[in-house]
Amino acid sequence: MKNCDLSTIITALGGRQALQDLLGVGPSAVSNYLARGTLPQRALGPVCEAVRARGYHIDPASLEIIGHQDAGAGAGRGMREGMRGGMRGGMLRRVLLIVGGGIAAYKALEVARRLQDHDITVTGVMTGGAQQFITPLSLSALTGEKAYTDLFSLTDEAEMGHIRLARETDLVLVVPATANLMARAAHGLADDLATTILLATTAPVMIAPAMNQAMWGHPATQENLARLRARGILTIGPDDGGMACGEEGTGRLSDPQEIVAAVLDQLGRGDGALSGRHALVTSGPTVEPIDPVRFIANRSSGKQGHAIAAALARQGARVTLVSGPVTLPPPPAVDLVEVETARQMLAACEAALPADIAVCAAAVADWHVADAGASKMKKQEGAPPPALALTENPDILKTLSTHADRPRLVVGFAAETESLYENAAAKLGRKGCDWIVANQVAGDEGDTVFGSDSNAAMLLTGNESENWPRMPKAEIADRLASRIGAHFT
Ligand code: C5P
Repeated sequence: MKNCDLSTIITALGGRQALQDLLGVGPSAVSNYLARGTLPQRALGPVCEAVRARGYHIDPASLEIIGHQDAGAGAGRGMREGMRGGMRGGMLRRVLLIVGGGIAAYKALEVARRLQDHDITVTGVMTGGAQQFITPLSLSALTGEKAYTDLFSLTDEAEMGHIRLARETDLVLVVPATANLMARAAHGLADDLATTILLATTAPVMIAPAMNQAMWGHPATQENLARLRARGILTIGPDDGGMACGEEGTGRLSDPQEIVAAVLDQLGRGDGALSGRHALVTSGPTVEPIDPVRFIANRSSGKQGHAIAAALARQGARVTLVSGPVTLPPPPAVDLVEVETARQMLAACEAALPADIAVCAAAVADWHVADAGASKMKKQEGAPPPALALTENPDILKTLSTHADRPRLVVGFAAETESLYENAAAKLGRKGCDWIVANQVAGDEGDTVFGSDSNAAMLLTGNESENWPRMPKAEIADRLASRIGAHFT
């Protein structure tokens, strides 16, 4: 008998059936090998040969799979997809997919399938509720692995103890995360296999919520969500739109392809140029109260700042996104800190230090109301309108640029109506930041910058500048993130 990481080998071979066929054994023999984590001596030669025939490099002494021929070749599937996720540096990645009990459970099957397109091994776990919608057989047929359902199953425990199941994975993914599952996870319950895994795992956890819009909007769910996020649990969605129950609103499961992209981003994080770096990004507007019901704010959708946070995460950075109120969902794989006022934004930024990079993309209000009342200002018949006394807000970009714990690279934004280069260069000096991304916000270009999906920009890095033509904000974000990545390598 030879000890080995048999699940990885099985994935490399193309599933359990392939191993059974190769060795001429039945499913129970493979279950026994898996339970013991060993292969019989006679299997070693054929397994090495078959794994190599599928393009993998295997160490015959340890039976460790050490890469794929495409991974270093710079061409084809292995390299491109590998760097984004499944075959990271030629290594196989694993996702433990917990399926919750909602109507969107059937979409988890699509997610399971598509993850495997990226050479990711998927092991399924289902809640009792999930089994009302799809069967363990469907999930195991699609993953080529056993689908686990029961915390107290002796057979399951003999094959793979639940703690091992929770630990031997690169990511735990919950699709769909129902209101009930989120509530149980938020409160640390461990009353079934799924919640026990969520408590026992040391891997990152990503949840894709899906539920009726009223359930999603309920303060109980929102509090549970906030708790989960505060613990570093990553979220993807939910989206807006029509639901199975016939209602419209926020609560639809994100598109399976988007979930897969978020998983690939998360799994690929360790490879990027910014791996091991901490990036702080501000985004959205700030909202400054006049009284408890009125406020001063500005036009900012947060699209550019959120896209930059997502792009930096794709480059491998750990990202803290400090955002004013926006309607955008938080990008996957970032730590979101939600604030309202400029003063709160500054406090959240300072609390997030130290950081290697700061990108200030927020449209911070210049002033706040000096004596914002605790009660609503009354309109008095015949009296003149009240005068608002304004006080200057802190300049977050400037504060970070001159901070004792200054990030190594500080990037600001400039919205200019004229003399783009001159004004942006002057702002660079005034704020003390290292780079400025400047937009022309008047005339032909400017009319469409706010809230739009595209932008034209000029990047100033010290004395040098480059013009970026109009392109989607996500592409501007990718360009900036790669420039930042190059700066750190
Ligand atoms: O001074 P101005 O608003 O034109 O500068 C824009 C840049 O400064 C942006 O990067 C913005 O995020 C940042 N800023 C800030 N805090 C302020 C005002 C602007 O961080 N109070």
